[in-house]
Amino acid sequence: MVTIDLIQPTDSCLHVTWDDGVESWYPWLWLRDHAHDAATIHPVTQQRQLDTASLPADLRPTSATADGAVARLTWPGEAQTSEVPVDFLRRFRTPQPARIDAAPRPVLWDASVIERMPIDVEFEAVMQNDAGVRSWLSTVATYGFAIVRGTPATPQATESLIRRVSYVRETIFGGFWEFTADLSKADMAYTNLYLPAHTDGTYCHDAPGLQMLHCLYHDGEGGDSTLVDGFKIAEVLQAAEPELFALLSSVAIPGQYIGDGAHLMAARPVFRHDHTGALVQVSYNNSDRAPFLLPAEQMADLYTALRTFDRLSNSEAMQWRQILRPGDALLFDNWRVLHGRHAYTGKRTMCGAYLNHEDFESRLRLLS
Ligand code: OGA
Ligand code: ZN
Repeated sequence: MVTIDLIQPTDSCLHVTWDDGVESWYPWLWLRDHAHDAATIHPVTQQRQLDTASLPADLRPTSATADGAVARLTWPGEAQTSEVPVDFLRRFRTPQPARIDAAPRPVLWDASVIERMPIDVEFEAVMQNDAGVRSWLSTVATYGFAIVRGTPATPQATESLIRRVSYVRETIFGGFWEFTADLSKADMAYTNLYLPAHTDGTYCHDAPGLQMLHCLYHDGEGGDSTLVDGFKIAEVLQAAEPELFALLSSVAIPGQYIGDGAHLMAARPVFRHDHTGALVQVSYNNSDRAPFLLPAEQMADLYTALRTFDRLSNSEAMQWRQILRPGDALLFDNWRVLHGRHAYTGKRTMCGAYLNHEDFESRLRLLS
């Protein structure tokens, strides 16, 4: 672990030289803003109590010292010396844009990769303790999905499983839902038809982050579930067709849901990137795309891009495919992985739920 070699106050910053030679500059306002005392950060809520905007732009301490554990700063007009832990300074040694990622890093896959990957976890392990939940959610974060084997084929057991992650998200489909091919909702999931690779909620500004699907009963043929790693598709497209990738990263595609007393609409590019340029969400549902018209040339290019994306997403070489039996509860990241279902015969009952992405991330962060 690196330690502080030298601190030097400058006009605008605390200049720290670390024992590995790295130099850091911490602005005075930033240090005051991040003091770790109860008057600055409420000790129970962890919220900032300091009125940051009232600090003068040219704030400078009257003294600044540091030992191995804390930096101590005295601010003009303040009786108390404020403290910033050296651990905290260490965390921000190198300036960079805000980051909110939850470990672990994704492993991108196609059909040949995913067949060798450990995507199964046991229901008993998940229900038993937090180590089981951590291994389950780490698998989902790594591959974009996991299957909980041995889940009792009841809505109650499935709901208690999903609640090991977080509370359930309410949508037009309800909270925890059960469905079969009865068109009780205006969605093709409620038929026995083939569903090509898609993400759910392209008509939501904040699409459901994760989805659980558990087949409770099926007495016919077919119904194979398919998954494809949307982040892998992005990687392939970016390398092979950078112009199409740029188009899919910038043109907002509208989605809609019409029925059940609602007309939901939202729009975003197929590939959504964050402020650092990192890909954070894939959105694609050809069935739910709402009408829009761009200038003719751009429209033609967009159709080319959508065709390329669609063919890749529905190609066997990119897909994981398996018939889910009662007992196999699938949890997947709806911001990364596209899902589909083959046509089927007979009676088939599914249950499941949506979760918010930040609740999944939070659970994983606290477990790690
Ligand atoms: C869905 C869906 C697939 C299935 O409900 O969003 O795509 O296996 N269902 O029924
Ligand atoms: Zn779906």
